[in-house]
Amino acid sequence: MTDIKKGLAGVVVDYTAVSKVNPETNSLLYRGYPVQELAATQPFEAVAYLLWKGELPTDVELARLRAVEREYRALAPDVRAVIDHVPLDAHPMDEVRTAVSLIGAKDLAGSGSVLDASGNPDENLARSIRLFAALPAIVAYGQRRRRGQEPVAPRNDLDYAANFLWMTFGEEADDVVVDAFNRSMILYAEHSFNASTFTGRVIASTLSDLYSAVVGAIGALKGPLHGGANEAVLHIFDEIGEASNVGPWLDQALAEKRKIMGFGHRVYKRGDSRVPTMKAALDTLVNHYDRPDVLALYDELESEFVARKGIYPNLDYPSGPAYNLIGFDTLTFTPLFVAARVTGWTAHIMEQLASNALIRPLSEYNGPDERHIEGYVPDAAIL
Ligand code: CMC
Repeated sequence: MTDIKKGLAGVVVDYTAVSKVNPETNSLLYRGYPVQELAATQPFEAVAYLLWKGELPTDVELARLRAVEREYRALAPDVRAVIDHVPLDAHPMDEVRTAVSLIGAKDLAGSGSVLDASGNPDENLARSIRLFAALPAIVAYGQRRRRGQEPVAPRNDLDYAANFLWMTFGEEADDVVVDAFNRSMILYAEHSFNASTFTGRVIASTLSDLYSAVVGAIGALKGPLHGGANEAVLHIFDEIGEASNVGPWLDQALAEKRKIMGFGHRVYKRGDSRVPTMKAALDTLVNHYDRPDVLALYDELESEFVARKGIYPNLDYPSGPAYNLIGFDTLTFTPLFVAARVTGWTAHIMEQLASNALIRPLSEYNGPDERHIEGYVPDAAIL
């Protein structure tokens, strides 16, 4: 019998120097640095640089990255136009996927045959920075247009996180909110061979282009078993309503064998190493907005579910309510994840290309035995 590893569970498919997930020690390192330390001390731009280049930037390098990021922040008119073609009731992830596809097509126009598609490391780093810079305006505009609002032009006096909030809400966010949001971006930036990153690596491994790999990764991230879970957590919170309803709600959800979104992880079985940092950020937001009710519901659902199933929260559990408190619409949560994870995706795509092997696993056939057309009678009912 062939030993089938459904979902590639437990299969190590390659080396990576981008990040290390260690479920035994409950730690996550980006290029060797604990993510908690990065979230507490660094701006997101510096972490993006670290993921791409392997080292934290010097002041000069950070200033240079920030200058380029500012140059590509504005929503290009044709990107706005293509977003406006996406139906307002489509999921915003479809909008983000479409916008990135257009950016890629424009950027690669005239670049020649498919043989040149994968690009060289310098070109791919420049493409990664441009995408990282362009995504906040796309995500922010997505939320605004659903609210019937015009886009807000970027502010070059604000850093990445503060400008992202400015472009979304049209007002300057308090420092405590900027700090919580910056932390969330860092925590979402990278997580080794998760489903979307692996999708990006598979696409890159065919020597396709970086944008195609990111578009594919966005598609993988949309699912509720992956990035879509942060949105799904808020749907669950809305269903439950308040902390006192948790018990009966959970009785029914478990009786119906529902997955409780924001809990469980393929790699971490004793808790997600990113949760305490994001939970601390959520706590500051709860105080800032004076919303103890949110914390009561959060704590009650966590303690009840852990007690009953022994399955712990993942990063999406605290980040969903945190984004809700900041004022993001529930449908915008997964696009925020894209804006953060594009840094990890592109670091992995470049790593894949640097020592590429086509990713092409095998399957065990379990369909009909060999048969032949002669004697085949079409099924009249189907015709
Ligand atoms: N709610 C209820 N039961 C669960 C949950 C959950 N959230 N997570 C796992 N289980 C149960 C599952 O039903 C199964 O039970 P049984 O053995 O009786 O059939 C057992 O635990 C093993 O679960 P699994 O789905 O086979 O394990 P996995 O490693 O394939 O799943 C997971 C990992 C993330 C897909 C799963 O925990 C899940 O669906 N969680 C909810 C969605 C979610 O929060 N996703 C975000 C993941 S982390 C952030 C990210 O990567 O984007």
